[in-house]
Amino acid sequence: MATPLLFVALIFFGSSLPFASSSNLQQSCPPCGGLKIPFPLSTDSNCGEQNYRLYCNNNTLQFLSQSGLYYQVISIDPTANMLVISVPTIRKTACISSDLKVEGLTLDESLPFNISKRNEVMLFNCADDILLSPLNCTTTSPCRKFEATSAGKSCRNTLCCSYLKDSAMTSHRIRIRVEGCTAYTSVVNMSPNDPPRTWKFGIELQWA
Ligand SMILES: *[C@@H]1O[C@H](CO)[C@@H](O)[C@H](O)[C@H]1NC(C)=O
Ligand SMILES: *[C@@H]1O[C@H](CO)[C@@H](O)[C@H](O)[C@H]1NC(C)=O
Ligand SMILES: *[C@@H]1O[C@H](CO)[C@@H](O)[C@H](O)[C@H]1NC(C)=O
Repeated sequence: MATPLLFVALIFFGSSLPFASSSNLQQSCPPCGGLKIPFPLSTDSNCGEQNYRLYCNNNTLQFLSQSGLYYQVISIDPTANMLVISVPTIRKTACISSDLKVEGLTLDESLPFNISKRNEVMLFNCADDILLSPLNCTTTSPCRKFEATSAGKSCRNTLCCSYLKDSAMTSHRIRIRVEGCTAYTSVVNMSPNDPPRTWKFGIELQWA
């Protein structure tokens, strides 16, 4: 006796709930914290595609790194297949990024996300051997401007360097470590003469 009723109930609710259908493979997910979630990005197993998983925790959209840390998603550009995640905070009292314990940001290479080429990455509190690598550690590097801001205060007067994420480097990692550089930040699409107050802090990721 219960079966026909359940069946009727499913038809009735199935047509009125926009996200209940699992037969529609192109189903996009509902917004999270005011951000629209374009297909194929997914916040749940019943919408989007599961390789493109993000997390809607307490109305905050988050990206999960391979190391198991969540980074807040601050914007999404569906036409460019780009999203921007927040940079980890740098401690006020020490030049240490909040993800130092997992050596910075690592993306799972088996997933369709990578770090875009528009990120100007700045590294702080570096060891001297960093100078051997192709980074900009000069006094004109934008990392010097960041040090002068209040957000960069705890990294002032450390050896700092910057680089533009491009194809010459891994697109799945921003690495820091206890004996190398212990903090970093990133600015999306920076022009050389932009003052720090106009910088768009974040790490831009691209999906395929
Ligand atoms: C969820 O967000 C609200 C508002 O920002 C906050 O007050 C609350 O503590 C958060 N809850 C959890 C479990 O993080
Ligand atoms: C370092 O960055 C500044 C600002 O973008 C630039 O003017 C300078 O030429 C760069 N120096 C090196 C060695 O790349
Ligand atoms: C990141 O992925 C996009 C889309 O697949 C690709 O076009 C781009 O070349 C990749 N970037 C790097 C640096 O590998």
